[in-house]
Amino acid sequence: MNLDAIPRERLPGLLRAMPKAELHIHIEGSLEPELIFALAQRNGVALAYPSVEALRAAYAFTDLQSFLDIYYAGASVLLKAQDFEDMAMAYFRRAKADNVVHAELFFDPQTHTARGVAFETVIGGLSRACERAQRELGISSALIMCFLRHLSEDDAFATLEQALPYRGQFIGVGLDSSERGHPPEKFARVFARCGELGLHRVAHAGEEGPPAYVWSALDVLKVERIDHGVRSTEDPLLMQRLARERMPLTVCPLSNVKLCVFETMAAHNLAALLDAGLVATVNSDDPAYFGGYMNDNFIAAFDALPQLGGRHAHRLAANSFEASFAAPDDKKRWRESLDALFAA
Ligand code: ADE
Ligand code: ZN
Repeated sequence: MNLDAIPRERLPGLLRAMPKAELHIHIEGSLEPELIFALAQRNGVALAYPSVEALRAAYAFTDLQSFLDIYYAGASVLLKAQDFEDMAMAYFRRAKADNVVHAELFFDPQTHTARGVAFETVIGGLSRACERAQRELGISSALIMCFLRHLSEDDAFATLEQALPYRGQFIGVGLDSSERGHPPEKFARVFARCGELGLHRVAHAGEEGPPAYVWSALDVLKVERIDHGVRSTEDPLLMQRLARERMPLTVCPLSNVKLCVFETMAAHNLAALLDAGLVATVNSDDPAYFGGYMNDNFIAAFDALPQLGGRHAHRLAANSFEASFAAPDDKKRWRESLDALFAA
């Protein structure tokens, strides 16, 4: 298997066909405008936009906050467990078409409990979809509960309390929402408690925030993965540490361009991260808002970055399995099927 000899014209087919894991998908960010309107009608929720087209036209973001405002408004149509199940099933069907074999889904309970939707409703619908994804589509999955960092640590603790009766239905916790001005340190105690409970820990860091937030996600929150982390390239010492510790980064190329973290895809540092030996992965973040699902992200990045070749494609898929929280036997099986595809 000479990965460097793979001709460029074979890359799009390989990128699409290769088995892969998605590790950074906010399930509320998979709500397509059509489904937002269908759920709004089903639940009698009024929307601020008159049509699917008008809503989609509003997806012109200047930064993370300009996106989050619309993203939280879109989630307001989710009221019943069936709504959460339908949303996640729509995502799993798209993921299946992209040869995603394993997905770890973020969800934002506070966005829903603040509107009077019970925690049980949220996790009940999502859990049912995860079971169906395995049964109907052969996709393995898990749920990661995110704390909204623009809210207080007390609010996060209250959310953790609500979640504990459902401890068996999620594997870990994350930290998302507005990054700037909300450093990881703000959530030191609640993440320590989650560690005591045996939950996996991840956090968004170094998306818009500085490399210092990546350091404190590692040192204070004790995370096992960094979500985004693209600003780490500004700090050579941090880069060395991430490579040495094989600390995964869940990179989201289309998201980074849509939210103006990079001006263009050609300016993205995905190739630099991989070439520095980091365990970078490719993910969709909020695919309904950023112009594409997993394979769209792979194709867009490889199209714009001529440094990326067959070796990088194979490495990105291998990294996605290594960085996942799946069972070792599953990781081994997926890796073998990846190697078989590249050997063919
Ligand atoms: N919530 C949903 N998408 C997000 C992102 N890209 N960054 C921070 N919080 C988010
Ligand atoms: Zn994200």
